[in-house]
Amino acid sequence: MQENESSGKLDKMKTSAFDAHVHTSFSYDAWQSPEKVIAEAVRTGLSAVAITDHNTFQGVLPAQRASNNTGVFVIPGEEISTECGDLIGLFLNEEIQSRAFGDVLDEIHLQGAISILPHPMRRKKMPPSYLLQKVDFFETLNGRTSCSLNNTSAKLAQSLDKPVIGGSDAHFPWEIGRIRNVSSRSLHSGEDVRSILLEGDYFQSGYPEPYTSREMNMGVSYLLKKLNGSRHNIFDLTPDNMPKP
Ligand SMILES: [Fe+2]
Repeated sequence: MQENESSGKLDKMKTSAFDAHVHTSFSYDAWQSPEKVIAEAVRTGLSAVAITDHNTFQGVLPAQRASNNTGVFVIPGEEISTECGDLIGLFLNEEIQSRAFGDVLDEIHLQGAISILPHPMRRKKMPPSYLLQKVDFFETLNGRTSCSLNNTSAKLAQSLDKPVIGGSDAHFPWEIGRIRNVSSRSLHSGEDVRSILLEGDYFQSGYPEPYTSREMNMGVSYLLKKLNGSRHNIFDLTPDNMPKP
């Protein structure tokens, strides 16, 4: 009786969860179709998912189409490679053309979008501090980064007084939603995520993938790329569309 009453109260709570960093098969190293991403987002109870493919915006539209009538909102994004490591833009209108860190940052902001420094400590070269100061959010809980490096990223964000965000960095279906941002507010559009972020009305939740599993996933991804250069989505394969050797 008591349990029913309490779950009833829980049902009435308006909450939402969004994953701010997900790849589709339009990324050179990811193997899940936009449709699969949305299906997994639904299955794992996400309210919104950011499509952040490497250097391309092509996965956004198919994901938006697949999200129709699912209750999941798609945040259009991109993860851009620069000389100082990756940089993410969320709420983009179009693909980013620049590749220099400072120029990418400017291009993201010119679109009225939000910039995120993903996995800040996993990069060969750190951006100069005057550019770091211009980044809007630091990703301090990345699903493919060790707890230790995530903690160091959090310290960096704190030292620069930057708001933090989490993302699974999913390249495989089972990674989607592993890290999520949870808010006490419900979503009525993807743009609601922007308000939640800017007002800081959320917290990060989840655990990074264990090291062995992460390495295994990256190994599988590498092997698949070697075996089959095309963009087949192995999680959607059927006997009819299986690639021929
Ligand atoms: Fe990523």
